[in-house]
Amino acid sequence: MSGEAREIESYSEPEAKAELDRLHEVLTKADLLYHQQDAPEMTDADYDALKLRYQMLETAFPELRGPDSLSGKVGAPPAEGFAKVRHAVPMLSLAKAYTDEDVQDFADRARRFFERDKDLKLVFTAEPKIDGLSASLRYENGVLVKGATRGDGAVGEDITENLKTIADIPHKLAGSGWPEVIEIRGEVYMTYAEFEALKERSAAVGGQAYVNPRNTAAGSLRQKDPSVTASRNLKFFAYAWGYTTADPAPAQFDAVQKFGAWGFKVNPLMIRASSIEELIAHYHVIEEQRSSLGYDIDGVVYKIDDLELQRRWGFSSGEPRWAVAHKFPAEQAFTTVRAIDIQVGRTGTLAPVARLAPVGVGGVVVENVTLHNEDYIAGIDSNGLPIRGDEPIDIRVGDTVVIQRAGDVIPQIVRVVLEKRPADAVPFEFPHVCPVCGSPATRELNEKTGKEDSRRRCTGELICPAQAVEQLKHFVSRGAMDIEGLGAENIDVLFNSGLVKTAADIFTLRDRRDQVQAAFAARREEQSRLRDEAAGKVRKASRSVEERSFQGLDKLFAAIDARREPELDRFIFALGIRHIGETTGAVLAKTFTSMDNLRAKGIEAASVGGALHEVFPSVNGIGDTVWEALRDFFDNQRNVEVLDRLLEQVKPRDYVVTVSADSEVAGKTVVFTGSLEKLTRGEAKAMAERLGAKVAGSVSKNTDIVVAGPGAGSKLKDAQALGILVLDEDQWLELAAK
Ligand code: IVH
Repeated sequence: MSGEAREIESYSEPEAKAELDRLHEVLTKADLLYHQQDAPEMTDADYDALKLRYQMLETAFPELRGPDSLSGKVGAPPAEGFAKVRHAVPMLSLAKAYTDEDVQDFADRARRFFERDKDLKLVFTAEPKIDGLSASLRYENGVLVKGATRGDGAVGEDITENLKTIADIPHKLAGSGWPEVIEIRGEVYMTYAEFEALKERSAAVGGQAYVNPRNTAAGSLRQKDPSVTASRNLKFFAYAWGYTTADPAPAQFDAVQKFGAWGFKVNPLMIRASSIEELIAHYHVIEEQRSSLGYDIDGVVYKIDDLELQRRWGFSSGEPRWAVAHKFPAEQAFTTVRAIDIQVGRTGTLAPVARLAPVGVGGVVVENVTLHNEDYIAGIDSNGLPIRGDEPIDIRVGDTVVIQRAGDVIPQIVRVVLEKRPADAVPFEFPHVCPVCGSPATRELNEKTGKEDSRRRCTGELICPAQAVEQLKHFVSRGAMDIEGLGAENIDVLFNSGLVKTAADIFTLRDRRDQVQAAFAARREEQSRLRDEAAGKVRKASRSVEERSFQGLDKLFAAIDARREPELDRFIFALGIRHIGETTGAVLAKTFTSMDNLRAKGIEAASVGGALHEVFPSVNGIGDTVWEALRDFFDNQRNVEVLDRLLEQVKPRDYVVTVSADSEVAGKTVVFTGSLEKLTRGEAKAMAERLGAKVAGSVSKNTDIVVAGPGAGSKLKDAQALGILVLDEDQWLELAAK
């Protein structure tokens, strides 16, 4: 669940329905155990996380909210459409240090940079790194005129009215001597006390569940109704500034003290220090106080004190060189391994997953972690060297383990507590046959390195039900055929009922309408039976659900029909040939321009065997791995049969190259980064190329435009550092439409 939480946005409606049903079942059972039998099987944190997920799904799919919804009174849905604010000076992030050595490196870099100033005595500041949301507050002549979120650092959202409800934020600056214009920056946060009080108030009215203070503060800030924000009693610490008409003071420490005099709260644990030893000593002081501060902090920030030196040292890739965040160690938790399951992926990879006793760590509930491969379980890396200690220590069912989660990093097992290993625990035996189809599962030899692949793969290909069903899920997925309403859950139903064995069968479902209807009805029946069972209810049939699902089927069939003539690049990608992703699919489409051509070349390559380059052209960006994969695909008679059956149903469109020379972006080099919401990566790329632009994978000084979606990282930073035009997805679409 939360440990591998999938983004809500990526759910199709039927998938969301299935997930809601599942959560309904689990939560109802938990409620029952908690309230009636006083024997909870779940921690409160686990319960809260599940409930929140349930509510998020319902908010995203309001039409799925039925009369038996568990949400009770749900708070206002997240506000949409705050105006965008471009920050006059970008809001940067901080370089991170994890160890004392990293901090020493920071000081050494400073010393090297200022080497020529022999007598320079470097002075630093140290202060807590508050785990909240940063905000920028623009004051003109001492009056607060605009307040914005950080957003992507370049563009945030105008939340002035909400920020004005925070008591720590003055509407008018106190005292005197403030610059004509100054953007004060700092952190909005929620105290534990307030968080607990809010949870209590909410529980009293059967309201929303809240996961942690930080997320709650974020949600509180994005309310449409400022009176809701006001009721959350958020707090604010000022620690930096952006655009200003005059330096607030010559040094960081004094500037922040001035903020205090102007009416802001500033952190009392900020100090000035003149050596690394002092900084690290203060880090430990803060670390010791961490648990009694009453709010979350996740490290200590060190900055060069003198603003002139800050300016001289400057910035690199979107971070100030003159500051560093010394992070506290990642949060860890103890739990036990209940089972080790093997999942078989689309290309047959056997992926081991540890099922853990659910445990909260770093703000989420973790109950599954990947174990990567058999060597990892045995405690050795790809070079045969021990991981998790000096000797290889394996992971066994029954083991007590320490799991760790740092920031957004996925949770992992960092240690096995050997003292707690049960006497009867045995080493895990990694299967050498596929647990699903029984075919041999082998480790391929990598010809280049001469080493065995770390992963074991099922050799069953499409005779393996696990591979076949995963392949189908891939086929219908968003970047591939993108069949609306036919998500992973529905594929499971259709596959398990034998109605869809290969992709071609999807396109004949309409002819088997009654059977499809029956399969979905059976599944619904089973789900509500489980739900009622958990709730201790007696079943009664519901007619309206049946009627609704008839309409649903028509929609589904229409969505399938709408995909009978897919773009060639999508179709190639949808075939799920190894090593052929979205980008390679597009290159192949451009190269071969029709499915007939690609098929003919594939079959020719399979018949001549080794001599790949006599058959396949030399194409920029495509190497032997892809050509071999293509040949191997066509070398398998079963694949060709499945493909040909599919081609009886589906006619991929030929690839037509139409480059317009007069578009706004013709001749420009564009880089896409972060996640896009309206376009898939493949679509975005094809669109740019149609408009005569070149799409590059990395940012350089030759880049003209960077299109950055949420989650953009280093590429965005590079673009900002190089002063390249950065657009969000909407701005890009607007430009492309010109
Ligand atoms: S200074 C130019 N000081 O950490 C540097 N940031 O990783 C501007 N943060 O987005 C940031 N406490 O939200 C600074 N005492 C502190 C901070 C702090 C928390 C956050 C801030 C920023 C993030 C950077």
